[in-house]
Amino acid sequence: MLKLSHTGRPSDEIIAELEAKRAEDVRWADGRTFGMIYDGGPSVHEVAERAALLYLHENALNTKAFPSLGAIQSEVVGWTARLLHADAESAGFLTSGGTESILCAVLAARERGRNERQVTEPEMVVTETAHAAFHKAAHLFGIKLHKTPVQSDWTADLDAMADQINDRTVLVVGSAPQYPQGLIDPIPEIAALAAQVGAHCHVDACMGGFVLPFAEQLGRPVPPWDFRVEGVDSISADIHKLGYAPKGVSVILYRNRGLRRNQTFVFDDWLGGFYASPNLQGSRSGMPMATAWAVMQHLGLEGYCALTRDTLENADQMRAGIRNIEGLQVLGDSHYHLVAMASDSRTEHPPIDVFALGDALMRRGWYHDRQKPPDTLHSTVSNTNAGVIEEYLRDLEACVEETRGERAADRSTEYSTLE
Ligand SMILES: Cc1ncc(COP(=O)(O)O)c(C=O)c1O
Repeated sequence: MLKLSHTGRPSDEIIAELEAKRAEDVRWADGRTFGMIYDGGPSVHEVAERAALLYLHENALNTKAFPSLGAIQSEVVGWTARLLHADAESAGFLTSGGTESILCAVLAARERGRNERQVTEPEMVVTETAHAAFHKAAHLFGIKLHKTPVQSDWTADLDAMADQINDRTVLVVGSAPQYPQGLIDPIPEIAALAAQVGAHCHVDACMGGFVLPFAEQLGRPVPPWDFRVEGVDSISADIHKLGYAPKGVSVILYRNRGLRRNQTFVFDDWLGGFYASPNLQGSRSGMPMATAWAVMQHLGLEGYCALTRDTLENADQMRAGIRNIEGLQVLGDSHYHLVAMASDSRTEHPPIDVFALGDALMRRGWYHDRQKPPDTLHSTVSNTNAGVIEEYLRDLEACVEETRGERAADRSTEYSTLE
């Protein structure tokens, strides 16, 4: 049984032990981790670390006590609204991350269905590529979830979605882009399906919210996905992904305050005073909110455009390199920062098992998420991987030659873990 030290320990000793503990962690600072970490570079670290120290202890539970955090929230939400082409009616909150933003949107859709259409047995429709957080939300909030197949290009199959929509549907979801293959669903059509029954339409842009606006400014083709699309009611966009703030901050944004009201909880019938809760948290660290504010200010639109240009060029280079290797393919025609690499059985060569390939890459220090079906090595490319793609592609080719014809015994996939 573990026992906490009785007398306490000096800080130098504690920090040294924490540093030692990290030895087995992925070496993201070397740029060899494709996902989980989003590294905006030294000046972004510096401003985030200074802001984090300032707000290490602050609590956004009560913005009367900490008005600066109220202002920080409304400014960050306002800047994000502008990026996503919402108008002055829009309203949102900061949350702890993509999952919490999604949970909030699903809860709001359920409450909206109850308030506007008296739906007491709510249902929702999502594609099989929609993030697992929607399933978690359905589980937590007692909503029946219909999961629909995607087409061969990995985008939503609208007929399959339409088949599941009925007068109990409170929510229809599209992703911009979806995580597994990085494709953008047909958002205008999905919004129109939701509108047919008066359901809420949420766009999950946790991954794309801080990429697509800049990709569009850079002249890349970006299909319609944001508040310019009629019928889009809410969008989740994570600042702690390609917004380059440290972990713990996302935006949930609604087209208007009336829609946002479905998310909030207020209560005044206990002995502790008026309780107003914007999201799923109680006490709320000011630290991620302040770092998001600082990083967004530091990068500005030009900074984000430059990071996005480099990231998308790196992702293009990665896709081209993979496509050049006989027996490998990139799933879907993604033009953004997510790359799904799978084996291509049409080759004359001995087949490549991407899980054996992933193990070989891991031995060289490259970390990918493994997913299925189909067996895939998944990369989220970001500025974290600036300058490493050529070396990666050389190692990829070498690992393909090493493992061609082999099959890994371990077929497990692990997006996330419990302990
Ligand atoms: C499309 C999409 N939605 C939601 C999430 C969940 O975000 P978080 O890990 O911040 O909870 C992710 C995470 O990668 C994602 O890619």
